[in-house]
Amino acid sequence: MFAHLPAAEPDKILRVMAEFAADPRDGKIDLGVGVYKAEDGTTPVLKAVHDAEARILERQTTKGYTALSGDPGFRNAVAELVLGDVPQDRLATLATPGGTGAIRQAFELARKAKSDLTVWVSDPTWTNHEAILDAMGIRWRRYRYYDQATGRADVSAMLEDLGDAARDDLVLLHGCCHNPTGADLTEADWRAIGDLLERSGAVPLVDLAYLGFADGIEADLAGLRHLAHRLPEFLLAFSGSKSFGLYRDRVGCVLALGADREAAQAMSGTLASINRHSYAFPPDHGARIVATILGDPGLRASWTEELSSMRTRINSLRRSFAEALTEATGNPGWQVLAEQRGMFSLLGLGDDAVRQMREAHAVYVVGGGRINIAGLTPASIPGAARAIADVL
Ligand code: LMR
Repeated sequence: MFAHLPAAEPDKILRVMAEFAADPRDGKIDLGVGVYKAEDGTTPVLKAVHDAEARILERQTTKGYTALSGDPGFRNAVAELVLGDVPQDRLATLATPGGTGAIRQAFELARKAKSDLTVWVSDPTWTNHEAILDAMGIRWRRYRYYDQATGRADVSAMLEDLGDAARDDLVLLHGCCHNPTGADLTEADWRAIGDLLERSGAVPLVDLAYLGFADGIEADLAGLRHLAHRLPEFLLAFSGSKSFGLYRDRVGCVLALGADREAAQAMSGTLASINRHSYAFPPDHGARIVATILGDPGLRASWTEELSSMRTRINSLRRSFAEALTEATGNPGWQVLAEQRGMFSLLGLGDDAVRQMREAHAVYVVGGGRINIAGLTPASIPGAARAIADVL
C-alpha cells in the first residue's frame, strides 16, 4: 500500500532548522525558524510560565477531560486579552493545538459555512498558510502586500487586489509582525481595510502569532480590534508559542465573532465538532498556564515585563543590524530594518545567495532570505552583515 507513497515536500522553514542542527561548525548563526532567542542563544522558559506551572502542579486535582472546545477559563482569558470588550453573545471560541491548529480550524469553520471558499493571502505570507490550504484543498489567491524596494507594505496595491475579494471570501491578515517581511500596517491602513471589508462583505481572519513583539500589547492589538469592533463577522487565530514562549506545549485559540447570538451559537457548536473530528479534545496544559498567568495580577505583570524585554531586545537588534548592513553594503536602504517589526525581515535573497550564506559563512536563513532577527547577538551582527554584503 505504501510502496508508491510519494515523498512529502519538506517544509522550507523546518528544513533550515534541521540543516542548522546538523552543521558541526563553531560560530554558526541560526536566523531560520521563528523562535525567540536570548543573548546566550537559548530559548528560556519565562519566569511567569515557571511560576504558573508550579502553581498548577500543586493545585491541579484531575487530568480528566475538559470541554471539547477546551477550558473556558483559557478561552475567556484569551478573548479578553485580545479583543477586550466585545459582545459576549456574538463570540465563539475554541482551544486548539497551537496557532497553526487555530488557523486550520478557522479555515475548516469557514469552509463548513461556504463549501467553495476562497482565501486571500498576502504575497508573501508564512509558507505554511498556503501549504495548509493546499492540504485542505481550499482555493486561495494572493494579494500584493510587500514592496521589496522600500521594505514596506504596499497598501494601495493590497487594497486594489482585495477589491476583487467577494462577499464571504476569507482575507487572511497578520495581526502584527508580518511573517516573513516584518512590514506592518499603520492604523490608517487598518481603517482602510475595514472600509473595504465592510463594503465587500469579505471576512477577515487575523493570524496573531507575535502579540507583544512589535510595539507593545495594546499597540499591537489596535488594528485588529478596529476590525473586530466594526465588522459583523471576524475570525482570529491566536498563538501562545511566541508571546508566552510555550512553543512545544501547543497553545492556540480561535476567536470568532458572528453577526448575532444565533450565528455565534452555530459557530460554537461547529467549532467544537471540528475539534471532535480532528483530535477530540485540545491539549490543556499550556492553555492552563496561559489562563493562570492572565488570571493572576502578579503573574500577568511579570509576563508583560518579560514580553516587553523580548520586544526591546529585538528592536534594539534591529537598529544595530540596520546600521551594520548600511555600513557593510554602503546602502542606506537597509535602515528600514529598524522600522520593521517582529522577528522577521525579508532580505530578498535568491537561492544561490541563501546557499552561499550557509556554505561559506555558516549563516542560516530561510529561502527568499527571511531572517529571524532574534537569532542575532551584538557579537554576531558584524559577521552576519558582512556575509550578506558578500553574497549580494
Ligand atoms: C516560523 O515562521 O518560523 C514559525 O512560525 C515556526 C513555524 O512553525 O514555521
